Amino acid sequence: MRGILCLLLVALATAKVFDRCDWARVLKNNGMDGYVGKGLATWVCLAKWLSNYNTSAITHHSDGSTDYGIFQFNSRYWCKEHITRRSLNFCHIQCSELLTDDVSVAIRCVKRAFRYSHDQSGWKAWHPHCWNQGLSSYLAGCSL
Ligand SMILES: *[C@@H]1O[C@H](CO)[C@@H](O)[C@H](O)[C@H]1NC(C)=O
Repeated sequence: MRGILCLLLVALATAKVFDRCDWARVLKNNGMDGYVGKGLATWVCLAKWLSNYNTSAITHHSDGSTDYGIFQFNSRYWCKEHITRRSLNFCHIQCSELLTDDVSVAIRCVKRAFRYSHDQSGWKAWHPHCWNQGLSSYLAGCSL
């Protein structure tokens, strides 16, 4: 019984699906409002489309790589899965770190990603709706 309770607590502590406004507040507290000229709504929009605000989101690809976490970072480029798996690991992290409720890891990685790719062409192509005007609905009703 105690073992089951422990497991349950671990599960609760390690994954999280954010409420939209809670996520916006976390982003703001982590300096994302205005980062590379993008307002908070952009980052809320991205997380919505990429993971539906779910820190445990995982997407497997046919090339053997996997996308991890709330911003769906790919294991080929951004994080390392395993010592035997090659990765450019631009964020210098283990992919599993992107799946916990400590979203500071994912936020540091997104900052790094946008610092490197100045035109953000990848994200822009995949999620054109997050670069349009009129993203205010992503922050509607949030007291920030
Ligand atoms: C979050 O993602 C995990 C892993 O894909 C999934 O099992 C879980 O159901 C998702 N949670 C919600 C609320 O969508």
